[in-house]
Amino acid sequence: MTHQDELKQLAGEAAVQFIEDGMVVGLGTGSTMKFMVNALGERVKKEHLSIVGVPTSERTKEQAHSLGIQTKAINEIDHIDLTIDGADQIDPDYQGIKGGGGAQLWEKIVAINSTKNIWIVDETKMADELGSFPLPLEVIPYGSNLLFSRLKKKGYHPVFRMNGDKYFLTDSDNYIIDLHLGHIKHPHELALELDQMTGIIEHGLFLDLVNTIIVGHKDGPEIIKA
Ligand code: A5P
Repeated sequence: MTHQDELKQLAGEAAVQFIEDGMVVGLGTGSTMKFMVNALGERVKKEHLSIVGVPTSERTKEQAHSLGIQTKAINEIDHIDLTIDGADQIDPDYQGIKGGGGAQLWEKIVAINSTKNIWIVDETKMADELGSFPLPLEVIPYGSNLLFSRLKKKGYHPVFRMNGDKYFLTDSDNYIIDLHLGHIKHPHELALELDQMTGIIEHGLFLDLVNTIIVGHKDGPEIIKA
């Protein structure tokens, strides 16, 4: 395991203590979440916890089932108490970029419907400014080449995400365009602009959403109230 993975594991395992018996819990996606879901599987087994997971991807759903964690689809529940998820980059105002794994649409739907959101990250994700991590856009395939050209003309350095020689497909069968922006000086302004562009279903700017961040450091997890 790499050093970064060890820090992800620390953060993931620290998050599981926030889950209480009877909760409906949004389960995020990604390598850090894998550690959290493993730790949750252990708690469910040992403590016979009765929790319902709401997975944000097919990957997470499969992992949860393999560990005996009960899940429900988002349309089968009426509330989510807590969502735990990873993040790709977090700035000093606790604004974030997500979607490095291509799951940001389902992740954002789950996050905005959750009473509380916790992000779990290794310390390399904490940044002075957003933007050095490419910003993912989930886009509808119809007309995506023309959307790509519009993004290019704006100077947003778009790149279609690929899976070998095919377009990467999300769990909703959409494409991802990553914007290589370098710097995002005004995340709220950019989010508004992207929200208004036809063809973009969701972008990876997660603004004013997180309540608690758990950061994995080599000397232990740090818990930040956002
Ligand atoms: C999935 O699309 C993402 O939003 C992940 O939550 C994010 O990319 C963090 O992933 P890792 O935990 O793998 O770094």
